[in-house]
Amino acid sequence: MRYGFFDTDADEYVIDRPDVPVSWTNYLGTKNMCTVLSHHGGGYSYYKSSQYGRISRFRQNGVPLDRPGHYVYLRDDADGDYWSASWQPVGKPFVEPGEEPDAAAGPGAKGRWTTRHGMGYTRFRSEYRGIDTEQTVFIPLDDDVEVWDVRVTNTSDRVRELTVASYVEFSFHTITIDNQNLQMSLYASGSSYADGIIEYDFYYEPWTFHYVASSETPSSYDSLRDNFIGPYRTETNPVAVERGAGSNQSATTQNHCGSLQHKVVLQPGETKRLVYLLGYGSRDEAGRAMQAKYSDVASAEPPALPAVDLEFQRLRDYWHAKQDKLRIRTPHEGMNTMINSWTLLQAETCVVWSRFASFVEVGGRNGLGYRDTAQDVMSVIHSNPTKTRQRILELLRAQTEQGYGLHLFDPKAFDPDAEQLPDVPSPTIVPTPNVADLIHGLEDTCSDDHLWLVPSVVEYVKETGDLAFLDLEVPFAQGTPATVYEHLRRALEFSAEQVGPNGVALGLRADWNDCLNLGGGETSLVTFLHAWAIRAFLEICEHRRAAGDASASEDVERWTAELDRIRGVADAELWDGRWWIRGYTRDGVKIGSAANDEGKIFLEHQAWPVIAGITSQERGEASMDSVRELLGSEYGSHLNWPAFTKVDDTVGFVTRVYPGIKENAAIFSHPNAWPIIAEALLGRGDEAVQFYDSILPFNQNDNIEVRGAEPYAYVQFLYGRDHEWFGKAQNPWLTGTAGWMYTAVTKYVLGVRLALDGLVVDPSIPADWDGFDVRREWRGAVYEIEVRNPEHVSHGVASVTVDGVAHEPGTPIPAAPAGSTVNVVVTLG
Ligand code: GLC
Repeated sequence: MRYGFFDTDADEYVIDRPDVPVSWTNYLGTKNMCTVLSHHGGGYSYYKSSQYGRISRFRQNGVPLDRPGHYVYLRDDADGDYWSASWQPVGKPFVEPGEEPDAAAGPGAKGRWTTRHGMGYTRFRSEYRGIDTEQTVFIPLDDDVEVWDVRVTNTSDRVRELTVASYVEFSFHTITIDNQNLQMSLYASGSSYADGIIEYDFYYEPWTFHYVASSETPSSYDSLRDNFIGPYRTETNPVAVERGAGSNQSATTQNHCGSLQHKVVLQPGETKRLVYLLGYGSRDEAGRAMQAKYSDVASAEPPALPAVDLEFQRLRDYWHAKQDKLRIRTPHEGMNTMINSWTLLQAETCVVWSRFASFVEVGGRNGLGYRDTAQDVMSVIHSNPTKTRQRILELLRAQTEQGYGLHLFDPKAFDPDAEQLPDVPSPTIVPTPNVADLIHGLEDTCSDDHLWLVPSVVEYVKETGDLAFLDLEVPFAQGTPATVYEHLRRALEFSAEQVGPNGVALGLRADWNDCLNLGGGETSLVTFLHAWAIRAFLEICEHRRAAGDASASEDVERWTAELDRIRGVADAELWDGRWWIRGYTRDGVKIGSAANDEGKIFLEHQAWPVIAGITSQERGEASMDSVRELLGSEYGSHLNWPAFTKVDDTVGFVTRVYPGIKENAAIFSHPNAWPIIAEALLGRGDEAVQFYDSILPFNQNDNIEVRGAEPYAYVQFLYGRDHEWFGKAQNPWLTGTAGWMYTAVTKYVLGVRLALDGLVVDPSIPADWDGFDVRREWRGAVYEIEVRNPEHVSHGVASVTVDGVAHEPGTPIPAAPAGSTVNVVVTLG
């Protein structure tokens, strides 16, 4: 069953059947303000922090499931019938595409509803009783305001008198207070109306305001939620909409909302454009300016609002510019659509907004997860170098002198330049943390967090060419300064020290798998990640040594020796015959071995010996074959098999999770990207793309009765085969899967990756592909790369030309001067 389709040319996903059983969301905002918005207009906004900067309210896990939202209501003043621009919250009948309106139900009683989720905007459209309404919601690049561009067209042959109303429910800015401490939230916030602007204020905190404004003087308003909705009603049938007039009341107490009502008269064929604004800031400092800016009318017919149009176009250009940094054209339609738009958007969303604001993570936590952010940044350096740099610096500041990272931290706590707001003592006492108290000890340290950062920094340097970044001084969490290079070395040293009796990394609190809590047991995953991080660091050390840096020579020796040690341990201890064991419990019992009854094989570490370059082709292939055979499925690879059913705390919390859910034998999406990379490095392009396809959301577009979640976003996990909901997808958007899938396809399947001194093209593709093209911007130059595959091989470069001149295959193509275009032709064979 399908509910929509990909409009690839427009970079949009179009939902043309609105009754999707779950919310399909989008993320709006690029800088300070973010909105998570469902295909029904449900969702919420926040300013900078989803924990402290809430603007609009969301009743998480509510019934119905995505209320309230950012709604536009329409009312036909001739007969009082009303509906909403998005199908919900009024929820009038609808028809499917191709279906005829139901004449028996009255002319035009049914309507069409479509939602288009685009990159940074969502557009709702309703065609109901001769009134065609579009509500385009977006957050401009440089204004802290959400714009609703509403166009109402009379497609009937008679004059129509309508009332159009906005509605958004404000939230107390601190989400925990909004959820749990109503004796604060109800009495410490107020609303007022003046000059067409509703302002929501916090009297005790006179620097926090939100507002709702519109492009035309409203005929009435509501700023008290309960006045707008009315007793024993919901957003489905608000009394103010039914009445066609707001109550024109505000107060310095209770729950607040932003509803502005407008009377609109439309001649047949006429279109009216109205703008609603939901913004951060006060009426005087922001509201009036934004009202003036976005009300500027250039012409009435056709209705032109230059500022709205310009800002919308700027937003489109912003995303196009990011997409243009790397565009692919392959014979694989799903890969093209997802990589060129959706997977990039999802990966950027994780970096810009982190992981705590969705409909599942509802914003009650703040900050950055060390391992998640350290991985996420790696994939979007080309499209967002500024944010990547900021995030890397935040991670470096939250790294301890000992080398490990603070697992979950608020970057502001370690940022000497963070904005300091006046400290108003509030009756809700929240102890002020001391920075030293934020630095956790070994008992709360994850064995992997810091390791992801090393290759991310190296990738950042490769992308930008900014070798001086390695010499930048950045303090550790304790405050002592060190160069970035030293930070990386400490990360490697920490892991070199934290080694158990078998020579394998200690598990500590957890590794990538939050539910594998080995403590003094050992984790092969971290040993492999350590090798991978060392190899990345060695690229830097070797480069510095070549430039005459003597201390870099010592590092080359030191880390080459450590890499050899790890290779030896892996060979001697960690190979189980057909795959790699997952580690040892603190009692020395193997985990993830054929000898185990449960959890015989795990997914997340199998690819890393190949990626780290510490194993043979034979073992690499055997481990990938085992993954496919024992963990693979039509919805992706399971995290482990068989599922755990017996509690064993020496293995960890994973043994207390229902079989088939999350870390216990579900299809956990994130590590599904790694076998793609391993297969590509092994030269098995068909197998790489087979792994990619098995979990590609695009491929599930017509299988929504099973998948449930949106087919344009990766989810955290899908229920595994031990669960009766096998294949159902949960927790969309905020997952490291997006970044890793982007990396796996672009750098390994298509093989366009960077060395410190050049660009490498080394594809591993399905043998039946005739070739593909990539447009890659790198350090200001454009590389138009054409890969030809006349012999129908998967791997192996026979020849390369650069601007028509033969180039030695396997050697990096040097960076061209900024502004130039380089034509690269790679022939496989
Ligand atoms: C969640 C966490 C991530 C962890 C994964 C597996 O997605 O955010 O850090 O690696 O679960 O446990």
